[in-house]
Amino acid sequence: MTESDYWARYYTVTVDRPAWETVRLAIRLFAADDAQHSHSRFAVDLGCGAGRDSRAMLTAGWRVLAIDREPGAIETLEAATPMQLRPALDTQVADLATVDVPACDLVNASLCLPFLAPEPFWQTWKRVLGAVPVGGRVAVMLFGDRDGSASDPSMTCPPPDMVRASLSSFEVEHWIDREEETQTALGEPHHFHLVELVARRIE
Ligand SMILES: C[S@@+](CC[C@H](N)C(=O)[O-])C[C@H]1O[C@@H](n2cnc3c(N)ncnc32)[C@H](O)[C@@H]1O
Repeated sequence: MTESDYWARYYTVTVDRPAWETVRLAIRLFAADDAQHSHSRFAVDLGCGAGRDSRAMLTAGWRVLAIDREPGAIETLEAATPMQLRPALDTQVADLATVDVPACDLVNASLCLPFLAPEPFWQTWKRVLGAVPVGGRVAVMLFGDRDGSASDPSMTCPPPDMVRASLSSFEVEHWIDREEETQTALGEPHHFHLVELVARRIE
């Protein structure tokens, strides 16, 4: 099975799944920030896949730039996005290792950055954090160093402390570091070490 075939199956299985809690929390936190003065908000959804998180942000009234290397991801996301939400959706087929991350209120990256090797991972992480102004947020799901993929040299599963240390300009509003013996979305057994975070830039 090619990588594209693998991801195509992943999109079929996940297209109707709900958004991750990280992005749902970020949407709620921005809604609280905006309670007095409404803002038009813009998010970049990295490694968007079939678009579960993008659709939650679009539904909340956000503009979204959804980026994935797989054309099949963008096709699935666009097909699954209700017509009335499409004007607020931009898409880009691009590699996270090199893509520019434009300035935005929120960078969302669910389970995609681990698929970068260490050098591009840390370079991209720097661009992700740099895209967010004071008051903006990142909502991220990573694999930690005890994940079943940690020994794969084409992936990056950093120790949670290393991620936390990189967030010195941010207030960490949500942090979960957990392990679970379960299955991937495609039913393969996997030891997950998940690091979930939402953080707001404060300086
Ligand atoms: C596990 S899926 C997660 C998809 C989506 N964020 C979700 O949570 O349902 C990982 C996604 O990252 C994308 N991806 C992996 N490596 C990438 C890269 N180097 N550049 C762009 N996208 C990449 C894959 O194509 C896939 O759609």
